[in-house]
Amino acid sequence: MEFKVSSWLLLVSFCSFFFGLHPISGQCLNDQKSLLLALKNDLKFDSSLSTKLVGWNQSADCCHWGGVACDKAGHVTGIDISNESVSGGIDGSSALFGLRFLRSLNLAYNSFHSAQLPSGFGKLTLMSYLNLSNANFQGQIPGDFPLMKRLVTLDISSSPYYTLALENPDLKMLIQSLTGLRELYLDNINITTHGYHWAELISSSLPNLQVLSLKGCGLSGPLDSSLANLKYLSVIILDENTFSSDVPESFANLQNLTVLSLQACNLSGSLPKKIFQVPSLKTIDLSSNVVLNGPLPEFPENGSLQNLVLSYTVVGGTLPDSIGSLRMLSRIELRGCKFSGPLPKSMQNLTRLVYLDLSVNQFNGPIPSFQLSKNLVSVNFYQNNLTGGIPSHWEGLNRLQFLNLGYNSLSGNLPESLLTLTSLEDLELPNNRLSGQISKLTDVSSFRLRDLDLSGNKFEGPIPGFIFKLPRLSTLALATNNFAGSVDLDMFGKLEELYALDLSFNDLVVSVNANRSTFSSLSKLNSLMLASCKMQQLPDLQNQSRLMMLDLSDNQLSGEIPNSIWKVGNGYLRFLNLSHNKFSSLQKPYTFPFLLDVLDLHSNHLTGDIPIPPRRVYHLDYSSNNFGSSIPANFGNVLTSTLYFSISNSKVVGVIPESISNASSLHVLDLSQNALRGPIPSSIGNFKVLESLDLSVNMLNGSIPEQLANLTSLSFLNLSYNHLSGKIPQGSVFQALTELSFEGNRGLCGPPLKKSCDNKQMSPQVEY
Ligand SMILES: *[C@@H]1O[C@H](CO)[C@@H](O)[C@H](O)[C@H]1NC(C)=O
Ligand SMILES: *[C@@H]1O[C@H](CO)[C@@H](O)[C@H](O)[C@H]1NC(C)=O
Ligand SMILES: *[C@@H]1O[C@H](CO)[C@@H](O)[C@H](O)[C@H]1NC(C)=O
Ligand SMILES: *[C@@H]1O[C@H](CO)[C@@H](O)[C@H](O)[C@H]1NC(C)=O
Ligand SMILES: *[C@@H]1O[C@H](CO)[C@@H](O)[C@H](O)[C@H]1NC(C)=O
Ligand SMILES: *[C@@H]1O[C@H](CO)[C@@H](O)[C@H](O)[C@H]1NC(C)=O
Ligand SMILES: *[C@@H]1O[C@H](CO)[C@@H](O)[C@H](O)[C@H]1NC(C)=O
Ligand SMILES: *[C@@H]1O[C@H](CO)[C@@H](O)[C@H](O)[C@H]1NC(C)=O
Ligand SMILES: *[C@@H]1O[C@H](CO)[C@@H](O)[C@H](O)[C@H]1NC(C)=O
Ligand SMILES: *[C@@H]1O[C@H](CO)[C@@H](O)[C@H](O)[C@H]1NC(C)=O
Ligand SMILES: *[C@@H]1O[C@H](CO)[C@@H](O)[C@H](O)[C@H]1NC(C)=O
Ligand SMILES: *[C@@H]1O[C@H](CO)[C@@H](O)[C@H](O)[C@H]1NC(C)=O
Repeated sequence: MEFKVSSWLLLVSFCSFFFGLHPISGQCLNDQKSLLLALKNDLKFDSSLSTKLVGWNQSADCCHWGGVACDKAGHVTGIDISNESVSGGIDGSSALFGLRFLRSLNLAYNSFHSAQLPSGFGKLTLMSYLNLSNANFQGQIPGDFPLMKRLVTLDISSSPYYTLALENPDLKMLIQSLTGLRELYLDNINITTHGYHWAELISSSLPNLQVLSLKGCGLSGPLDSSLANLKYLSVIILDENTFSSDVPESFANLQNLTVLSLQACNLSGSLPKKIFQVPSLKTIDLSSNVVLNGPLPEFPENGSLQNLVLSYTVVGGTLPDSIGSLRMLSRIELRGCKFSGPLPKSMQNLTRLVYLDLSVNQFNGPIPSFQLSKNLVSVNFYQNNLTGGIPSHWEGLNRLQFLNLGYNSLSGNLPESLLTLTSLEDLELPNNRLSGQISKLTDVSSFRLRDLDLSGNKFEGPIPGFIFKLPRLSTLALATNNFAGSVDLDMFGKLEELYALDLSFNDLVVSVNANRSTFSSLSKLNSLMLASCKMQQLPDLQNQSRLMMLDLSDNQLSGEIPNSIWKVGNGYLRFLNLSHNKFSSLQKPYTFPFLLDVLDLHSNHLTGDIPIPPRRVYHLDYSSNNFGSSIPANFGNVLTSTLYFSISNSKVVGVIPESISNASSLHVLDLSQNALRGPIPSSIGNFKVLESLDLSVNMLNGSIPEQLANLTSLSFLNLSYNHLSGKIPQGSVFQALTELSFEGNRGLCGPPLKKSCDNKQMSPQVEY
């Protein structure tokens, strides 16, 4: 230990000697030291989270204290106590304002708990660098700020929640004094310029400006070309303002422009093509301007562009071949644009690419090889129209963590060189036409794969054994493929991180070993989807305290639905699908989980009482059962948030309860093919959002309630094959219906049936 400490010290002094880690500084003067100690005393900070302040004490030369810099004479010239968990303690009397030689002060990333900024800064007339960003000060910028006439860098950016006000002084008063500013950061400060146009004000006041960052300042447009007069301007960040204008092409005259960021500014017009030709440009971010359009220009040869970010715009057309000549390009984000056509082969020359997102476009044709892009970390081609195979050579892409090729039309096999990239954490290939067997791998203990989605393809053969051994696997989706063979759920029992498992719709036979059940001890499982898995036995899920989604539909499960199933997920179960099984009843007593919002029990053999659903349920399907009982009188009272309810074809008897009128959120109500009698309740007119009403094939009688004509959202109405009589109500609603059927009701008359009501007296009778 002693050896280690001394060799570390040796290294530090060696480095300081050769590389000058310490700024050259004199011995600290006593008054300066006292002021620093008084400052430390003023400040409230958490000593366990502080790395610098905590070490400020009397013994050492104060010029060597953490975050302190001095001049040769021993005056303190710089203090950096950013991110030191300071929570308060600077007021006008603070020792800070006695440090008259201070040129640089950084209090950023502390939490001054909405305290006001004190006056006193005006005394620090030598100050050239002031950084108060994200320090959680609030209120007015003090009136003496403009006295720091030597300021070169001013950063008072804040998070959107703790914002400083720039009203008195306002922007004009501030910058007309601080004419030497080269870097100005005012992110999230509400700037009111009292009639002065902010861009003209800045361009006429700050001739030396190089960096301008005014994100989320509430600026309005149009975006003024006067900024282009600032010849040194290099970084322009104006995200999240509302300019509602074009980007001035004159920005292309800024010879040293490196960053242009105008995210979410309601920009219109087409891409400013000339700006792409600026040789110094490294970052252009015009994303989230949803009407910004136009094609990409040809890129300059040997351009410096590193970040090309245009996601969520309507920029489109083809990606020019010349993109391949942007050798410095490391980030391309074109998600959700209007691009089409093939991916240029030249992209394989983008050797510095790190992050590539072309998702949600209409690119077609094959994926180029990224063999040379060894720095790639993330590649996303999700939702395009890409065809051909997955490129076969991924060797050496040892940084790749994320690959999403989902929702394309890719075919062929899953290349082994991709599967064996140990760096890969998330591989998403759903909804393609991929086929063949998955390679058998042996030692996967060092794999970082967390999410594997192969669903919606044509993969075949057994689920390869290595999958059960992937140490970090959290999401496994293999649904809707041709995987075959027998799988015991316990085979997944070693995947301790397993969060979501979907094996539905394959050719698998999934079994449960009730004796061992390592599966039931998996503690993180949230979603278990085993539809169509030929299961004959329910898995033991009692210990699954986090399970929220359970699909066991279309299996061979029978007997009682055990009441323990309602305790799965500690009462937090939200989705349960047990449809298409052979369940005969619900084991009593049972209490539905409070949060259940989808309950699907359709196509079983359920008999007896119709279960009263949980209150929050929004999708409830009891159809195709054998209840043989009537709908409980209070049933509608619990359906107040329900959007979908069907109990069609379930041998339901009795009447439609009046309480159904409380189910006023329903979009779909299907009571068809039962033995319901009595009238259609007139309160059905409450169903303002009902889109589909099916009461066909019952024994309902009486007249059709007038109120039906008030269901303005209705697009499907089937009242056929009942005993309804009287006049069909008139209403424009009925003309708008896409499907309408009254047939098989012998007593009905009116225009839709071409059966006049005149000759016969239609007195609606109600029979029970
Ligand atoms: C000053 O701080 C250092 C580091 O925390 C500590 O080792 C030293 O004992 C302190 N000296 C005094 C006089 O408090
Ligand atoms: C602040 O310090 C913490 C660790 O002490 C670090 O994780 C974090 O990134 C720092 N934040 C900034 C903005 O430097
Ligand atoms: C202000 O300080 C923070 C934290 O050290 C830093 O991230 C930020 O870049 C600084 N701002 C300027 C303009 O130097
Ligand atoms: C910005 O300040 C102006 C004037 O003080 C005020 O009317 C406006 O509501 C403020 N905007 C926000 C988002 O706080
Ligand atoms: C542009 O930057 C270069 C190098 O940083 C510098 O020499 C040159 O003076 C700058 N030009 C302007 C107009 O700012
Ligand atoms: C966005 O700009 C358009 C003009 O291009 C304008 O009609 C619209 O009102 C603007 N939206 C907002 C929120 O300012
Ligand atoms: C681009 O760079 C290459 C190699 O550095 C050089 O040979 C070529 O002349 C450059 N082209 C342009 C147009 O500057
Ligand atoms: C990649 O760059 C090289 C050298 O500039 C060039 O010869 C080649 O044609 C480029 N490849 C593609 C596919 O554009
Ligand atoms: C996808 O490509 C196929 C043929 O390659 C074409 O028929 C289809 O229209 C395309 N779909 C879209 C959405 O572009
Ligand atoms: C489970 O255990 C019982 C007796 O404890 C035994 O009869 C049965 O064969 C076992 N079932 C399986 C699948 O191992
Ligand atoms: C369920 O948990 C209980 C208590 O933690 C434990 O005794 C039991 O063995 C567990 N059952 C299964 C099947 O893991
Ligand atoms: C239909 O709704 C209107 C307005 O909400 C109401 O005045 C009218 O009485 C309703 N008609 C029927 C038949 O319920």
